[in-house]
Amino acid sequence: MSSESHNLSTPDWQQSGYRNIWMPYTQMETSPLPLPVVATEDVHLVLADGRKLIDGMASWWTACHGYNHPHIRQAVEEQLRVMPHVMFGGINHEPALRLAQRLARLTPGNLNRVFFSDSGSVSVEVALKIAVQFWLNQGVEGRTKFVSFQHAYHGDTTGAMSVCDPLNSMHSHFKGFLLEQYSRQIPTSEAEHAAFDAFLGSQQSEIAGVIIEPLIQGAGGMKFHSPESVAKIREACQRNQVLLIADEIATGFGRTGTMFACEQADVVPDILCVGKGLTGGTLSLAATIATDDVFNTFLSDDSLAALMHGPTFMANPLACAAANASLDLFETEPRLDRALAMQAELSDQLSPCRELPGVVDVRAKGAVGVIQVEHLHHLDQLRARFVEAGIWLRPFGNVIYMTPPLSITAEQLTTLCAETVRVVHEWSSWPAD
Ligand SMILES: Cc1ncc(COP(=O)(O)O)c(C=O)c1O
Repeated sequence: MSSESHNLSTPDWQQSGYRNIWMPYTQMETSPLPLPVVATEDVHLVLADGRKLIDGMASWWTACHGYNHPHIRQAVEEQLRVMPHVMFGGINHEPALRLAQRLARLTPGNLNRVFFSDSGSVSVEVALKIAVQFWLNQGVEGRTKFVSFQHAYHGDTTGAMSVCDPLNSMHSHFKGFLLEQYSRQIPTSEAEHAAFDAFLGSQQSEIAGVIIEPLIQGAGGMKFHSPESVAKIREACQRNQVLLIADEIATGFGRTGTMFACEQADVVPDILCVGKGLTGGTLSLAATIATDDVFNTFLSDDSLAALMHGPTFMANPLACAAANASLDLFETEPRLDRALAMQAELSDQLSPCRELPGVVDVRAKGAVGVIQVEHLHHLDQLRARFVEAGIWLRPFGNVIYMTPPLSITAEQLTTLCAETVRVVHEWSSWPAD
C-alpha cells in the first residue's frame, strides 16, 4: 500500500499560504496537502514538479472543451479589453443578451427567460424563489414547499441545501436550520409513479414545485434513473399543477450525450438551472431559465410582483463572453457525439472492475463513468495512488467516478480508464479498515 502523501515537493507558495486557506469538503486536521497545480493544458493538470495528470474530473464537470481553448481565451481577452464588468441593474450589454437569446434557442420548448447568477447554488435559490412567487403572483397563498428526491444534491446555500437529501447528504446535520421539504424516492415502477402522483395530489395546496437532477443524481452518489421516470414525473407535476424545476447544473451542456438531459425524456421543465459547463470551465456563471408561462406571472403593474433578486456580479461580461465562445465550440466541434461515444468506451473499459471484491456496480451514462463500491476505505491512499498513476480522480462517498472533458481523445480516455482499473484492482486487495 502506498503512503498517504502525493510524494510531491511542496512549493513555497503552498508552504506559506496553506495556513490561511480554508479548503472545501476537507477535514483539514487529517487530510494530506492538496495537489499544487500550476497550469492546465489540453485535458491535463500540470503539477508544481512538472508532472501532468489526465484530469478525469474536468474540474467538477466544467471543462467540457478541455483547458485553455484558444477560442474561449480570445473571446475573454477581447472582452477584458472592452468591458470586464458592469452592474446589470438598469444596464444591458451585448454578451449577456446574445447569450440569453442563444440559451433560449438551445433549451427545449418555451424556456425563454434567462436570469443570470454566479454559481449553480444561487441559480437553484433563484429557481425556488421564482417558483414560490409564481403562486403568490397569482394570488395563491401557502405553496411554499418543495419536493426533492432521495440522493438529491442541489448545492450548498441554505435553500439549495434544504432540497438535498435530508438524511444521506453532507448537509444532514443542519436539520433544524434548514427549511423542511418533502423528500421522495425517484419513482420507477408503475405503482411508485401512481404513489408519487397521489402524493402530489394530496399535498398540492402547499407544494410550489418538484426539483430533480434529470437522468443523473451527481454529488448524492452518481445514481442514474431513466428518461421514462423523468417523463412520468413531469406528467405527474402537470396533472397536479405543480412546477417542475430541472437542475441541469451538472448534466447540462452535453454531459449525458444530449445538450440537456431533459431532451432524452422529451420533457420541458417550467424552470431549468444551468451552470458548471456554461462557460466551458473558465469563469463562474449560472442561469435560471423560466418558461414564458412562468415569466408572465411576474408581469403586472405591482412593482412587488417583480423578481427581487440581483447578484452583484450577475451576467458578468467576461463570463458571458466565455459562455458565448463555449457555445460556438458546441456548434463547431463534435462534443455531443464524443459524449455519446464515451458511454460505450467507459462502460467497456471500466467493466473489469465489476469482478473485483468490494465493487458493487460499474455504470456509465454519456461522459460519466461510475465504479460503486461497498465501502471506500483508505480514501487518501487511493487518491494518492491515482496521482502516482498520472490521473486525477476524486472519489467520495461510495463512488469512484469520472467526468472527463468532452474533448478527451479515445486514446487519452483509454489511458484514464486503464490506470483507474489498475489502481482500483490494487485497492481491492488492501485490507478494509
Ligand atoms: C446538480 C447540481 N446542482 C447544484 C450544484 C451547485 O453548483 P455550484 O457548486 O456552482 O454552486 C451542483 C454542484 O456540484 C450540482 O451538481
